[in-house]
Amino acid sequence: MPDDFLIHSDFSLRQLNTFGIDAKAHRYVSIDSVNTLLKVVKTTEFAQSERFVLGGGSNILLTDDFPGLVLHIGIKQIGLIGDDEDTTFVRAAAGENWHQFVQWTLAHDLSGLENLSLIPGSVGAAPIQNIGAYGAEVKDFLHSVTVFDLLSGDIRTLSNAECGFGYRDSIFKRELKGRAVILDVTFALPKRWQPNLHYVELAQEMKARGLNMPTAREVSDAVIAIRTRKLPDPAIIGNAGSFFKNPIVSAVKREQLLAQFPQLVSHRQADGSYKLAAGWLIDQCGWKGKSMGAAGVYERQALVLVNRGGASGKEIVDLACAIQKSVLARFDVLLEAEPIIL
Ligand code: EPU
Repeated sequence: MPDDFLIHSDFSLRQLNTFGIDAKAHRYVSIDSVNTLLKVVKTTEFAQSERFVLGGGSNILLTDDFPGLVLHIGIKQIGLIGDDEDTTFVRAAAGENWHQFVQWTLAHDLSGLENLSLIPGSVGAAPIQNIGAYGAEVKDFLHSVTVFDLLSGDIRTLSNAECGFGYRDSIFKRELKGRAVILDVTFALPKRWQPNLHYVELAQEMKARGLNMPTAREVSDAVIAIRTRKLPDPAIIGNAGSFFKNPIVSAVKREQLLAQFPQLVSHRQADGSYKLAAGWLIDQCGWKGKSMGAAGVYERQALVLVNRGGASGKEIVDLACAIQKSVLARFDVLLEAEPIIL
């Protein structure tokens, strides 16, 4: 029956988090349509449970079994919804896989999202942490987000501005945390497209490929190649991408650090502050390739923590805390975890 649902007990989440942590949800329900969601939220069980909304599971770390109800959003649908002179509007449901959606846009000759190729996770999770890579962020192409408000029971649309986007940040991580279930995302893709090759590594990759005026497909291929070289495939080795955010420091703090560490990697921000490369800081502390129990620091990118096989969420957290401590001791910079720790 369409819109029917089944609430499972003691449901393993191992296949549903890219860290591959073997934790269980006390109760679990898969949601394939908005109507199913509307039915689930009317149940007494929903009203009485602690809840967690799960998307692609690529930005969470499970440190224990979840004692409440996990709502796993699997709503699917992608479609063109209109255009004007400059822009094509495309809408994707929250449960679509992000990378497959990016490939769908490219197959329909729509450009803009190519720099964000191969990022694990779902479309619905993309705005939550404002996913970004190779000089682009999802906020650059996002028109609006449709959400179900668990508090009021309303479905409403938030404009790009209302999402309050920042670096790996949005209203969904702050004011609407635990309150908004993202149903779909509408993207505004430019008709007059220019490749975004500001990120040095991407520009170098295009040069190495002999492409001066690449197509969006060629940029996507290059991004896929770089990511495949540097980042572990979660299907093979459990991870949640960058485990820490790149810390932002004042110009004064950066000057002090530069005096002591001339090789420091930093990028100036629009407001005059500086973003430091957390991967570089961690690497300098000697963590790259190291392990603590079954938790490890990836050999090719120190910002990525990995599950070397059977790691518990607590082991990953212990490793993250040890890294935080050594970076703080050496550089006096506090690293902030990027994934949601449950
Ligand atoms: N670096 C090192 N050692 C390392 C890792 C990095 O010295 O082990 C240095 C690199 O040489 C480079 C600098 O640090 O000079 C930055 O490294 P990289 O270009 O790999 O990018 P990142 O800052 O480590 C960020 C995002 C990634 C995104 C890449 C590419 C964050 C937290 N991470 O990583 O996003 O793919 O840029 O744009 O902003 C993610 O969020 O999960 C993610 C993978």
